[in-house]
Amino acid sequence: MSARILDGRALSKEIRASLFDRSLRLKNDGRAPGLAVILVGNDPASEVYVRNKSKACDECGVMSKVFHFPNTVSEHELVGLIEELNVSNEIDGILVQLPLPEHVNVRNIIGCISVNKDVDGFHLYNIGGLVAGGTIFPPCTPYGVQLLLETANIEVSGKNVVIVGASNIVGKPMALMLLQKDATVSVCHIKTNDLSLYTKLADVLIVAAGKPGLITADMVKNDVVVIDVGINRMIDGSITGDVDFDNVKHKASWITPVPGGVGPMTVTMLIENTIRSAELRMAINPININPAVTPAEMRLSI
Ligand code: GUN
Repeated sequence: MSARILDGRALSKEIRASLFDRSLRLKNDGRAPGLAVILVGNDPASEVYVRNKSKACDECGVMSKVFHFPNTVSEHELVGLIEELNVSNEIDGILVQLPLPEHVNVRNIIGCISVNKDVDGFHLYNIGGLVAGGTIFPPCTPYGVQLLLETANIEVSGKNVVIVGASNIVGKPMALMLLQKDATVSVCHIKTNDLSLYTKLADVLIVAAGKPGLITADMVKNDVVVIDVGINRMIDGSITGDVDFDNVKHKASWITPVPGGVGPMTVTMLIENTIRSAELRMAINPININPAVTPAEMRLSI
């Protein structure tokens, strides 16, 4: 048996075509959606991610601006730029590429982004909304995983979903989103004793640990659905996930490849959030697109 492939690249292509149409409508009604990306330093992986985001914006008719700062940039300078972008009439989404240098307090920086433009979904308001309801922008990677599952008609209600990795970007928001869908969710992390005890219980296994080959075939049950969020660059330059794909695929019912699984979906959902932000802003104030609408106004119009 070999698992069916959850093809994030193909699904992204379809979604991006419809995102382009939505951008075009916005452009015809006033202006194209706009995304600002803030990049600090010269981390090669971050530079690749930011390039991919800009390319995806071009593909979807979204205007993007990259603000690239040296590693020595002060928190004060970053806050100043974010405050300008918060009230800019041409920007609907603001993204600060992580990680930031150690001298910059990530929470302060993310906290300065207007919740109405927080298209990464990292602001405490949007994260809190995953618990209590009312989030404006779901975080992009969990949002993309959810769409991959829904598109393949994979039901999570009542299923054992095991998440490996408890990061703020993937593991924790993913757990909250699946709990909302009535899954029984377990979150494993670096301190979990006997990881395979949990992974063997999984009907759906989501792995975001950043460790190549962490999940082997003996750690999963037959017919498991495997979502591999890992993106690891190997010494030979190739990209691989956290799951031993070649062996696990013989036990799984569905599996994401790396590359071509979750990665393209993350970027696509960022564009979806940015366009939705522009649509909400337009719907609230179509004549004079007002950048300073309140969260309550944004939520009301969803
Ligand atoms: N660094 C790694 N993944 C992400 C992401 O999804 N958003 C941001 N802003 N930074 C990241």
